[in-house]
Amino acid sequence: GLGHAIWCARDIVGDEPFAVLLADDLIKTDRPVLSEMVNKFDRMRASMVAVMEVEKDQTDKYGILNASDIENDIVKINDMVEKPDPEEAPSNLAIIGRYILTPRIFDFLGKKQKGAGGEIQLTDAMKHLLKEQPIFGYKFNGKRFDCGDKAGFQMANLAFALQRDDMK
Ligand code: G1P
Repeated sequence: GLGHAIWCARDIVGDEPFAVLLADDLIKTDRPVLSEMVNKFDRMRASMVAVMEVEKDQTDKYGILNASDIENDIVKINDMVEKPDPEEAPSNLAIIGRYILTPRIFDFLGKKQKGAGGEIQLTDAMKHLLKEQPIFGYKFNGKRFDCGDKAGFQMANLAFALQRDDMK
């Protein structure tokens, strides 16, 4: 699972904060989401994930947050759960694939506990991290495409193609 993939990078990352980008989450925006998050990280010095609201019946596709608004575009995460059924979801605020994490996360990923879908989940490791360190959510501006989904991938191609001069 995702948690294991990240754990495999522990020796390359070393003892520093690092970013994770899930390439199937494509975000069309004027201001790249990760660079906005790096700016916020410099100020807040705490782990951070990109977040957006999803349809209530889609919560079982995402890490879902229990979070409190603290700034215009920042929430403080209180708890999180990976892919909950809609009736069990704490909200419809979902994690989208941009993360800045502190290296402490590797200790929790290294426990290799299986979570949703029998996979080692990054969300579960972040839930442990949350007991020791704050984690914030950044409500980004932009249109997100789920390129892990066939229709989402086609929509992304159309949206980016329509921006090109040779397609006008
Ligand atoms: C992963 C994460 C999930 C997150 C999602 C965003 O799930 O495990 O918490 O909300 O990416 O796209 P996946 O899409 O790999 O199943």
